Amino acid sequence: MAESKLFSSFKIKDFQLKNRIGVAPMTRVSSPGDSVPRKDVLDFLARRAQNDAAIVYTEAIVTDYESAQGYPRQSRLVTQRQIDAWRPVVKAIREAGSLSIMQMFHCGRVAWPEINPAGRIIAPSPVAPEQVNSQTGKPYPVPDEMSAFDIEHVINGFVATAKGAVAAGFDGVEIHGAHGYLINSFLSTYSNRRTDDYGGSLENRFRFAREIIEAVKAVVPDDRLLTFRISNWGVADMQVSLFDADEWRQLIGLLDRQPLDIISVSTLNYKDPAFDTEKNMAQLTREKTQKPLMICGKIYDRHTADDAVSDADIILSAKSLLLNPDWVRDIANREPLQPKTPEEANVAYTSKPLP
Ligand SMILES: Cc1cc2nc3c(=O)[nH]c(=O)nc-3n(C[C@H](O)[C@H](O)[C@H](O)COP(=O)(O)O)c2cc1C
Repeated sequence: MAESKLFSSFKIKDFQLKNRIGVAPMTRVSSPGDSVPRKDVLDFLARRAQNDAAIVYTEAIVTDYESAQGYPRQSRLVTQRQIDAWRPVVKAIREAGSLSIMQMFHCGRVAWPEINPAGRIIAPSPVAPEQVNSQTGKPYPVPDEMSAFDIEHVINGFVATAKGAVAAGFDGVEIHGAHGYLINSFLSTYSNRRTDDYGGSLENRFRFAREIIEAVKAVVPDDRLLTFRISNWGVADMQVSLFDADEWRQLIGLLDRQPLDIISVSTLNYKDPAFDTEKNMAQLTREKTQKPLMICGKIYDRHTADDAVSDADIILSAKSLLLNPDWVRDIANREPLQPKTPEEANVAYTSKPLP
């Protein structure tokens, strides 16, 4: 029988993936005052590599110390102590023959002022999310419109965190441009009402993302990967993701011209039609880029995994790999599996060690 695409190897730069399956980034809110995740959370990541996931993402790591944090007990990667804490995890992932990628983000308008040292929320424009903060039950404050100084400061935060990842030995660095957080909110006319060079046309709204990509690229050596995550959905306000098919194509065209090694597309369900087209998000994205493509969203059994990877190069799973340490093996064995619910996934945020 011919080898399935899902379990075939894939080459990106000098990295040879053992299959097309990766662990999606998952925030675990497990880092106390020193911003280092609990040991069981780090061990969980290494175990996913040992159990055959070809790529293992970190949770979204918070960038600058002023305003980037959105959830309690998030981790950071800018001090020697934080770097030293991640080194053994990266090593264990490599020893299992898998790739480690550090994802980093700034929460932007969805940040939580009380847990940021400067108590400030910043965004492209002073437009507060419509939904309340699900963790506090309170409305989000109206964010400060970012000044030129703020923009430079935030870019420096991404650069410092990327340097931390390189020092810790990660194979790749991902810029989180998805889910309504800061970078994503610059891309959208709903949350970006600026009239300067960072607002208006899509090229202008993309400027902030481009400046971050360029600055980060300058500190990520050529033998590592630089990836970017983009989505058609967002936390707090779905309006932030109100692209249409044409705008999405243009956006992917802009990303395609950047020095990125992978574009990672995050959806709520990989097979849903992309906007008003008859294509899915991977197919629509593929129209505008030949770069390696990752797809994520409700991929939970062998059928959905095979189907999703047919339009992409790599599939990522979050909830299934969170709750089932043997997921890759179960997929290989074509076990009957059910999608995991968001309620089941809430165990990610408790102090209960996961298998
Ligand atoms: C517990 C949990 C934490 C998550 N944290 C992140 C994160 O830090 N960064 C990110 O880009 N996506 C995050 N996500 C979204 C997932 O990466 C993924 O896109 C989403 O869960 C859909 O995939 P699934 O259907 O396989 O669960 C998280 C999801 C879960 C369930």
